[in-house]
Amino acid sequence: MSSSIATRQRLSEVRYEIRGELARRARDLEAQGRQLIKLNIGNPGAFGFRAPDHLQQAIADNIGRSDPYGHQQGLPEAREAIAAQQRARGAVNASADRVFIGNGVSELIDMSLRALLNPGDEVLLPSPDYPLWTAATLLNDGVAEHYPCEASNGFLPDPAQIESQITQRTRALVLINPNNPTGAVYPKALLEELVAVAARHRLLLMVDEIYDSIVYDDTPFQPLAQLAGDLPCLTFGGLSKVHRACGYRVGWVSLSGDVAQMRDYHHALDLLGALRLCANVPGQWAIPAALEGEDTITPLCQPGGRLHAARQAVIDACAASRWLNLSKPDGALYAFPGVDTKRLPGFDDHRFALDVLENADVLIVPGNSFNVPYRHHFRVTLLPEPEQIADVFGRIEQRLHVLADAPAAKRHVA
Ligand SMILES: Cc1ncc(COP(=O)(O)O)c(C=O)c1O
Repeated sequence: MSSSIATRQRLSEVRYEIRGELARRARDLEAQGRQLIKLNIGNPGAFGFRAPDHLQQAIADNIGRSDPYGHQQGLPEAREAIAAQQRARGAVNASADRVFIGNGVSELIDMSLRALLNPGDEVLLPSPDYPLWTAATLLNDGVAEHYPCEASNGFLPDPAQIESQITQRTRALVLINPNNPTGAVYPKALLEELVAVAARHRLLLMVDEIYDSIVYDDTPFQPLAQLAGDLPCLTFGGLSKVHRACGYRVGWVSLSGDVAQMRDYHHALDLLGALRLCANVPGQWAIPAALEGEDTITPLCQPGGRLHAARQAVIDACAASRWLNLSKPDGALYAFPGVDTKRLPGFDDHRFALDVLENADVLIVPGNSFNVPYRHHFRVTLLPEPEQIADVFGRIEQRLHVLADAPAAKRHVA
């Protein structure tokens, strides 16, 4: 008799609906010939965006130099370019020696938590979050302590609330700015308060700034490292979003702040980097080109740009909806609308996402995938053409009407 192979138990605590059950059902439907509009992943290349020519050229020019393993921290010229960007943003003690390049920010989220956590150590994470942060905390034996970022507060964190959740075991404060999934962009004064909390409790600051130049309506982006000064701070960035090159799998983390305090941590990261030998080399050649070359993202985010128009289409659709409300995204590539539960009591985000998939051929991500305790939000990306966004929201509205007409019992969680 065969027995199935037991798997790591903590995996059962991990939520990753972005590529989970709904996405699998979508694949089945596609196999049956259904044409779906998939708004579940912030993957620019899947919506016709290309990485800028100068990034492609840099890889083509250097592909012949990409055969050997590279340095475990990344190509020196690429790390220099990242350190220069961080210094220009005011990061204290940023240097090529303190930069680690990885196979996307994803790998570095995992590595940086693995280098930090002992069993039972707590990490403060936003709710809603980008779920890899929670997953990587759990899978590295940490405890995910979610601090709420309420819709009623524009999805901004509340420093007093965060401080009240700190214990003897808290090691790090994670911020995602601009935010996925909400699109919130944190004001400087708020970031200063958050830095003060980290300083009072000696927390490592970990800031995911992968959407750093994707902002709308002249919303200023404030790099955290500048405000953190001498405090230990890890800043994450990459090519996937701003440079529309998800498939290159290129991300980085830059250490800033006091060198002596971070020496052991630096060595721990270096060891983990060496254990996996190095990051994908060809993609790294695109880093200097991306950081020193033409700014190709700002025009897309400004009036007349495609991302600006797509965001406006979401704002307009939610404003016209009978059921939806939206805290408008000031940055990043997503919107996180909520459903009016007074008018639709018992609304269940997961059921609704399945309904929209089965009956309207649209794949959205239910809000509960982002580690929130409520079930009346969903996430869409701003990557489709504005006309397609209008079409999608028309279909969503129609399904909400059907739901509103359904007997109340049908709306409740199964
Ligand atoms: C906030 C955030 N961090 C990290 C990542 C992962 O990026 P990468 O492609 O560099 O692994 C994403 C991807 O969507 C993201 O939204």
